Amino acid sequence: MARTYDSRKRVLVTGGAGFLGSHLIDRILADGHEVLCVDNLFTGSKRNIEHLHSNPRFDFIRHDVTFPLYVEVDEIYNLACPASPVQYQHDPVQTTKTSVHGAINMLGLAKRLKCRILQASTSEVYGDPTVHPQTEDYWGHVNPIGPRSCYDEGKRCAETLFFDYHRQNGLEIKVARIFNTYGPRMHRADGRVVSNFIIQALAGEPITLFGDGNQTRSFCYVSDLIDGLVRLMESPADFTGPVNLGNPVEFTMRELGELVLKETGSKSKFVNLPLPQDDPRQRQPDISLAKAKLGWEPKIKLKDGLKSTVKHFRDNDFLTSQDLRGRHAS
Ligand SMILES: NC(=O)c1ccc[n+]([C@@H]2O[C@H](COP(=O)([O-])OP(=O)(O)OC[C@H]3O[C@@H](n4cnc5c(N)ncnc54)[C@H](O)[C@@H]3O)[C@@H](O)[C@H]2O)c1
Repeated sequence: MARTYDSRKRVLVTGGAGFLGSHLIDRILADGHEVLCVDNLFTGSKRNIEHLHSNPRFDFIRHDVTFPLYVEVDEIYNLACPASPVQYQHDPVQTTKTSVHGAINMLGLAKRLKCRILQASTSEVYGDPTVHPQTEDYWGHVNPIGPRSCYDEGKRCAETLFFDYHRQNGLEIKVARIFNTYGPRMHRADGRVVSNFIIQALAGEPITLFGDGNQTRSFCYVSDLIDGLVRLMESPADFTGPVNLGNPVEFTMRELGELVLKETGSKSKFVNLPLPQDDPRQRQPDISLAKAKLGWEPKIKLKDGLKSTVKHFRDNDFLTSQDLRGRHAS
């Protein structure tokens, strides 16, 4: 979209070299704005943003959000944080710091600049939920001391900070609770179920089902999710969220595996393994609020989203099941 210099925003995206961040940046640039991507490349990759370096409206700074940042921008999307259990459990203390100190630093920046800030929160704030589907007024069922707590509690504390800055300083905040999202550029070995299944199927290795494979998840395609984030950022100032963004259509792990087998044409067989600790049985967003306030709902069907995701994995090198050993689905 062509814009004049005056109608362009300068947008900071933390975690911009990651899976969601890099798609968000593509979208913001396509809308004609400028982007400053800040990332410490812990789980992100320069490869995700290499197509942007010749764009004069794109800048990259290698920086860890646990340290203060002094830049001039008009809007902030705070996405920096490892998102998969394998990656956020690698250094749990750093994961909590990224969520909590990262939120404090970005909120401090937004306060100084008097600019809008959006937090990429997560469905994990609901923990292992006792209500289905989850609405935003459900307070969650979270283990504060388990191996997933660094992520779940870190994100919960970040939400608290966002709402305290809003109440105390009048900051314009937006909080998105993101549910499982998949698509091209997702990590090849992050242990999440979509990438695991695709890699196993393409390698002709057994597809690992945890438990009986009847636990359900809902999967949102990345372009749908990014559209939800942008709509949320652009929503009226009095709408803060939290708002669920995800696809409410549920699939069992076995159904997902079958779709992946069909899309890849693989002859892989299923094997069952024990369920990891604190793995929720079921997770499904209620997106009534997003529909009502943002006019948003996902459009891409799982079988269609899997097509481009499988293509991405086919076109890029992928790891073998050897590399996946010990990793678990989420
Ligand atoms: N992908 C999903 O399904 C999903 C679901 C719920 C929430 N989210 C949230 O969305 C955000 C993006 O997730 P993603 O799937 O793109 O993950 P990702 O790991 O691909 O991206 C996270 C990015 O943050 C960067 N990062 C991590 N720690 C940092 C730090 N201390 N300083 C600067 N950069 C840092 C990483 O290098 C990476 O580029 C995360 O906050 C995550 O919690 C994602």
